[in-house]
Amino acid sequence: MERTLVIIKPEAVIKKLAGRIISIYEDNRLNIIHAHRCLPTKEVLAKHYKALQGKDFYDSVVQFMSSSEVIVLILEGENVVNIVREINGSTNPLKAKPGTIRYMYGETVQENAVHGSESVEAAKEEIEIWKDLIRFEI
Ligand code: CDP
Ligand code: MG
Repeated sequence: MERTLVIIKPEAVIKKLAGRIISIYEDNRLNIIHAHRCLPTKEVLAKHYKALQGKDFYDSVVQFMSSSEVIVLILEGENVVNIVREINGSTNPLKAKPGTIRYMYGETVQENAVHGSESVEAAKEEIEIWKDLIRFEI
């Protein structure tokens, strides 16, 4: 069964939005097969955001994501990667569709409440990158 990696980002955890966000995934019939709260290490973030290395916002996003604890979820279901990207909404909350998590709970392009893997391949790589930190056994 297809899996994806979701991160409820620092500002959303601080604002106690995790329960609301998790409910949205469950309302869409996705299964939470793992959940773990942790402080992301710079080492894990460097691997997770390797595609962004060289972008002007790279240092800032790594700094932000390691600034406070996050909640990492692994969700499972048919077509879960695309369903989660749809539910999360556009990267920029101001451009996200009404009803999406980023529309409702995102603050800025950087502090946009959630991460969701971009493809099935990316999801597999991300689960491998995060598995030790989040104590997930594949
Ligand atoms: O998260 P998503 O796949 O929608 O976007 P991305 O282009 O892969 O960027 C990853 C993350 O970097 C975003 O979710 C933002 O938190 C951050 N970012 C940023 O701070 N400034 C940008 N101009 C673009 C992305
Ligand atoms: Mg991305």
